[in-house]
Amino acid sequence: MSNRMWGGRFSSGPDAIMEEINASIGFDQRLYRQDIAGSIAHARMLAATGILTEADRDAILAGLDEVRSEIEAGTFTFSRALEDIHMNVESRLREKIGDAAGRLHTARSRNDQVATDFRLYVRDCIDMLLGQIAALQLKLVERAEAEAETIMPGFTHLQSAQPVTFGHHLLAYVEMLGRDAGRFADARKRLNENPLGSAALAGTSFPLDRDMTSAALGFDRPTANSLDAVSDRDFVLETLAAASLCAMHLSRFSEELVIWSSAQFGFIRLSDKFSTGSSIMPQKRNPDAAELVRAKVGRIIGALTALSIVMKGLPLAYSKDMQEDKEVAFDALDALSLSLAAMTGMIGDLTVNRAKMHAAASSGFSTATDIADWLVREAGVPFRDAHHITGRIVASAEAKGCGLEGLTIEDFKAIDERIDSRIHKVLTVESSVRSRKSYGGTAPDNVLMQVARWREALTGE
Ligand code: ARG
Repeated sequence: MSNRMWGGRFSSGPDAIMEEINASIGFDQRLYRQDIAGSIAHARMLAATGILTEADRDAILAGLDEVRSEIEAGTFTFSRALEDIHMNVESRLREKIGDAAGRLHTARSRNDQVATDFRLYVRDCIDMLLGQIAALQLKLVERAEAEAETIMPGFTHLQSAQPVTFGHHLLAYVEMLGRDAGRFADARKRLNENPLGSAALAGTSFPLDRDMTSAALGFDRPTANSLDAVSDRDFVLETLAAASLCAMHLSRFSEELVIWSSAQFGFIRLSDKFSTGSSIMPQKRNPDAAELVRAKVGRIIGALTALSIVMKGLPLAYSKDMQEDKEVAFDALDALSLSLAAMTGMIGDLTVNRAKMHAAASSGFSTATDIADWLVREAGVPFRDAHHITGRIVASAEAKGCGLEGLTIEDFKAIDERIDSRIHKVLTVESSVRSRKSYGGTAPDNVLMQVARWREALTGE
């Protein structure tokens, strides 16, 4: 039997393989809410412009309501022969209300329909992700406030560099997430135009009111070019690009959680709720959630790459290639949402071992830069010379087998006469972080200032 929706000129139905490769219902059924919302807006507009009778409109609206209830109740039978969510919904509507259902598709094509549905879906995802990002930021801000004075080693090349405050380190991720949120919000602005009414590719001869459907669906305005409207998937790509950067940030953070929670570092302990055990080694506490968040970025960047390659070289307007936009995007946006939830859970629950952080921060001659800065400030030594002198001081501490604070004033003077006992003040990690007061620096006072700024930005308080 030929296809009920478009089979007029066909004498046979599709091959089984054709049906399998063509059908998207297996994954696009999750667009049902957006699809029905689009159809409701379209039917109302068709009636308002006199294209559809009020009686037909009312039958369509009531029928669509029932279809949605059936899908939500799990009693709807999706059919692969009907290809996609659009034709599944319309076919069921026809079973319910008869011929009026056939009038719903007036001045519409699946091309503008799917572009509209997917924009609405991606917009919903962005709104959810923005909420999740803000929740994670707020959790980080709370923990940063409590850890404003906690001293840990700051690293470059994963080698101890200079002491920093743990609060400052946490706020670094708040900044990254702030940029992520900005990118999602920016993508949302460009996404928020209404393709509905572009029809197959050329627009339509019916006197549509596209402003009316735009307003009903929460779009800022109708798209201005029908060819562009049905061929554009920039809105998915931009969202996946924003998702890729956000996932990359979460991956870096996860890597730090993995390192910090190792026995060798012992800076933090992830809660039981976010750790797993080993089936053979009873002592193990594995940071699986962090490892999985570290890895999810792979499939998210993969989705961006996959869809970029699908879109490359596609002529205008719609081609079936574009049906490949959904699975990768669904998967990537699901993965990011789950990653944000897992990260928020881990951050909320982890415990901090301040003593271990402090001990690690104090080792590795981490205040050497403070000695060089002292020589510049107090003895007028040019920084390059001060760097060299401090290098010799570090070497002498290493030879003596002590930290910088273990050197006596005689030890210092043996290297440079200009050093006096005031040097001892700058050798502690506390004085080191306290002195880093430049705007954006790690000093506890700066951390508290940034905490206040972010709390205000996130909560308005
Ligand atoms: N399932 C299709 C998709 O996701 C809907 C659009 C189909 N349009 C068409 N002319 N065959 O892209």
